[in-house]
Amino acid sequence: MNSDILIKYNKPGPRYTSYPPATFFNEKFTSDDFRKSLIASNEEQKDNISLYVHIPFCPRLCYFCGCNTSHFQSKEFVERYIDAVIKEINSVSAYIDKKRKVTQIHWGGGTPNSIPLNLVEKVMNAFKSEFILAEKVEIAMECNPAYLDFEHIDKLANMSFNRLSLGIQDFDINVLNIINRSSSKHPVGELVKYMKDSGFDGVNIDLIYGLPGQTEKSFINTIERTIDISPDRIVTFSYAHVPWFKSAQKILEKSGLPSAEEKLSLFFIALNTLTQKGYIQIGMDHYAKPGDDLSVALNNKMLHRNFQGYCTKKTTGQVYGFGATSISQLNGAYTQNIKNITKYVETIEKSEFAVERGYNLSDIDKIRRDVIDEIMCNGYLNMPAMASEHSVSLGELKNIVDYSPEKLQSFIDDDLLTLNNDILQLKPLGFLVVRNIAMAFDPLLKDTNAHYSKTV
Ligand SMILES: C[S@@+](CC[C@H](N)C(=O)[O-])C[C@H]1O[C@@H](n2cnc3c(N)ncnc32)[C@H](O)[C@@H]1O
Ligand code: SF4
Repeated sequence: MNSDILIKYNKPGPRYTSYPPATFFNEKFTSDDFRKSLIASNEEQKDNISLYVHIPFCPRLCYFCGCNTSHFQSKEFVERYIDAVIKEINSVSAYIDKKRKVTQIHWGGGTPNSIPLNLVEKVMNAFKSEFILAEKVEIAMECNPAYLDFEHIDKLANMSFNRLSLGIQDFDINVLNIINRSSSKHPVGELVKYMKDSGFDGVNIDLIYGLPGQTEKSFINTIERTIDISPDRIVTFSYAHVPWFKSAQKILEKSGLPSAEEKLSLFFIALNTLTQKGYIQIGMDHYAKPGDDLSVALNNKMLHRNFQGYCTKKTTGQVYGFGATSISQLNGAYTQNIKNITKYVETIEKSEFAVERGYNLSDIDKIRRDVIDEIMCNGYLNMPAMASEHSVSLGELKNIVDYSPEKLQSFIDDDLLTLNNDILQLKPLGFLVVRNIAMAFDPLLKDTNAHYSKTV
């Protein structure tokens, strides 16, 4: 594909991990709003509950990192933090209908595998005593392999974890040095084999393209090593450079960030190599083996997305988040907890909710959210069907998303999508500009001057 086309569409825009994006969350949203949204959530998507827990500690901070984390704290403070998380689980779960079953638990961070695993077990026990876990619950943890031993994998398996995600970012030692990251403690291939032999259902590997020091040659090597390891899912994140928000990223500017053209060539290396080797492209930058749940869901137009990444509508329900900075993604509201770790702990210790900001979704927001979700995940939008799902006329739906066919014309001319009888279908390369296509259905974009990373 002509990379000029992608450069043409390379402009700042939301990642649409939620709609409206987190930049719209505001401080007017109170603990009382949170309580009401928790109660209301019991009447929606009753079969599914997803739980998220955020561990905001890392032994060493990577310069590229865009996540909310802090340098490792004292053992006492980490224990105090975990006690606060458990207290929060107890107080929030009191508002949740106990008949609803948990189908997904996700541990993110930060580096959850760097805290003592007996603390992980304490939280898992709190989940197990407060909620009913579905028989096929997916329990996943984001791990940094620099701190992962074989015995940790055994312990996690004993706690019912069945999916691990390994943050590799790059195998090249020069790149790892530039980004201030340690390499894996054990050969990654051996760790992954051990996980599979220990009965884990899935192993993911995260990579990033667009980092300083990456060359075409080094990145081909990283992709080929990843393919040899044969994980079920691979994510090649586009490096999001947001130095106005993460000042440590400025350090990387000194090492020279790749140009948009260089970054694109890395992206195409990943896309071409992984798809030639049989991985299915999911969204812009996720890849899964053909039999993986994500590939099957894409085929059935049942793919979904939340703050934890792509998921399936079958497995994922409304998300209840615990820990500093965690986001609860309910049908009627988004709530984000306090980001400052000490303030989070102190607030929970005072028996208060740790809500920092949030957003109540109107009926119109929900329609726009479902439209954007369908485009971002399934590359498809059947406007008449979407209108009837929300009990509005086709004309009303079009007004709500500020639809105009002219906004889509350049994508059609560039052979990125088709539009027939109000049904939009992305072509495979359309996924590369899927954020831009979604932006054409987002009337709120013009009302914000929020800073976003570039779409490619
Ligand atoms: C919060 S990390 C958790 C895993 C663990 N801490 C690690 O680093 O391996 C989740 C993923 O976010 C991605 N990530 C973090 N900062 C990013 C950035 N600025 N741009 C793109 N992806 C980023 C990385 O690929 C990382 O694996
Ligand atoms: S990338 Fe992972 S290990 Fe590195 S600072 Fe961010 S959360 Fe911590």
